[in-house]
Amino acid sequence: MTPVQIEAVKTSFAHIRPIADQAGILFYDRLFEVAPELRPLFKGDIRDQSRKLMTMLGTVVDGLDDIDDMIPAIEALGRRHRDYQINDADYATVGQALLWTLEQGLGDAFTPEVREAWTAAYALVATTMQKAASKSDSSGPLAS
Ligand code: HEM
Repeated sequence: MTPVQIEAVKTSFAHIRPIADQAGILFYDRLFEVAPELRPLFKGDIRDQSRKLMTMLGTVVDGLDDIDDMIPAIEALGRRHRDYQINDADYATVGQALLWTLEQGLGDAFTPEVREAWTAAYALVATTMQKAASKSDSSGPLAS
């Protein structure tokens, strides 16, 4: 990501933070509308899940300037998602639902540049998660 893209993600997410609860619910409503088959993968309360997702997104956004520091946590998240049975197609579906949600939340502020910046940010996180999930030795040297 370019510094300009990082700034665009940070600035736009600042508008989402105050409405994070609603944005999270909107995201899951949209996700289960376009991909109802994903609903059974979520075992807990969707409001709790929504808060976890928005908190994690906030952490990643805050960490974009020093993304290397975030990589181990993102890789661990990716390995947990392998356990949740998430595949590559699901990552694409979730990415689309996320962009759609941001568009609803940001309105006119969701410019083509902001969309590009979020697309790059999501791709960065998703590919890091997917790579970690595909490594057989990813649980470390003590994995059985
Ligand atoms: C940027 C990408 C993503 C982020 C930041 C993210 C974040 C999270 C977080 C923070 C949790 C809470 C549990 C944990 O930390 O392990 C979680 C759980 C989960 N996520 Fe994701 N996630 C992402 C992508 C996806 C995708 C693509 C799917 C596909 C449907 C998905 C499905 C799930 C499921 C099924 C759970 C477990 C829910 C449960 O146990 O009830 N996530 N995710």
